[in-house]
Amino acid sequence: MNSTFRLAAAVSIASLGASLFPLTTLAADSKGSVEVVHWWTSGGEKAAVDVLKAQVEKDGFTWKDGAVAGGGGATAMTVLKSRAVAGNPPGVAQIKGPDIQDWAATGLLDPDVLKDVAKEEKWDTLLDKKVADTVKYDGDYVAVPVNIHRINWLWINPEVFKKAGIDKAPTTLDEFYVAADKLKAAGFIPLAHGGQPWQDSTVFESVVLAVMGVDGYKKALVDLDNSALTGPQMIKALTELKKVATYMDPDGKGQDWNLEAAKVINGKAGMQIMGDWAKSEWTLAKKTAGKDYQCVPFPGTDKAFLYNIDSLVVFKQNDEGTAAGQQAIARKVLGQDFQKVFSINKGSIPVRNDMLADMDKYGFDACAQTSARDFLADAKSGGLQPSMAHNMATTLAVQGAFFDVVTNYINDPQADPADAAKKLAAAIKAAQ
Ligand code: BGC
Repeated sequence: MNSTFRLAAAVSIASLGASLFPLTTLAADSKGSVEVVHWWTSGGEKAAVDVLKAQVEKDGFTWKDGAVAGGGGATAMTVLKSRAVAGNPPGVAQIKGPDIQDWAATGLLDPDVLKDVAKEEKWDTLLDKKVADTVKYDGDYVAVPVNIHRINWLWINPEVFKKAGIDKAPTTLDEFYVAADKLKAAGFIPLAHGGQPWQDSTVFESVVLAVMGVDGYKKALVDLDNSALTGPQMIKALTELKKVATYMDPDGKGQDWNLEAAKVINGKAGMQIMGDWAKSEWTLAKKTAGKDYQCVPFPGTDKAFLYNIDSLVVFKQNDEGTAAGQQAIARKVLGQDFQKVFSINKGSIPVRNDMLADMDKYGFDACAQTSARDFLADAKSGGLQPSMAHNMATTLAVQGAFFDVVTNYINDPQADPADAAKKLAAAIKAAQ
């Protein structure tokens, strides 16, 4: 059963119960109340989402916070599905990539509520077509894109590098291993890493990109081509992944990504492979990019950009106040002021074309400027590719197959890369 069908079947009962959606209770002076389900719960992420909350409240709406802890959002998605099945979806929820299409196909998203806002604010001109298409269903906006994250980053504490006798950031996998060995010898954790499936797959996709290149990444992780999934390049990528894993934090099993980021910030670890939401923790700790920390593309991936676009979808609701609140959120989100302040706090870059082209003007730091430059260049060269680990390339069912096989592979001391590649292809086929 394909995943659209699975999601549709699960929530079809909800449409019967649409009239059961609860009417929201409002403070006397509120223009409307909107519940927003999201998974921005680390210190840095919370600082970012609080920017939106404050702007929406300033406009007279009540923000009902539906934060669900759990990096990568798997728990939030589970909560959302059960709420939809119960006929009680929130007004707004953080959903990404092809999953937006699956949700829209259930009929639970609202294709009308954003129509006027999108027209008035000229979203079609403000946004790159790739970005706009992600958040449209049958030509109508069912979500507002919030920001763009790059996944294939390596975060470095230069002070720790110096203490370990490393004089430059690694640019190849071999240099990465040399640096990691020196960190280990000097008594540091070479690679801060939380052993949760989405984090394992975040590292996996960066390694695949480094070993297989953009074309290989696309064939295997986006097109799900069987020969690319089982071929010699994938076997090599899995072999390298196993080597990278030998440098991971031995205390990292099950750890949250932000607690691992803290180990790099506090000088216990030298590096972390993570999307640029990691920067939100550095920003919160009042550290400066290029001085207190370095962000470099994951070794061997500087000509590519694995992207993910955070988006807020709108669910059908049955009261005008909520619709007005949904529109207010959408208007704020694509405004220049929010785009700037949110992304500076979050570590991402704006989704607006005009801002991406002029990052310096808006006060973005060196990491964000590199990111925007690479995003625009890689969009032209084809190096811009959707992230599998962050819900942009495949359905959640296929992503789940990747997560299972990759995490088992990393944790099994006996695992064989050729065998893992075969398991990967089989699990993906079953999930399609
Ligand atoms: C989301 C980010 C979030 C990160 C960690 C990613 O999938 O796109 O917004 O900060 O997960 O939870």
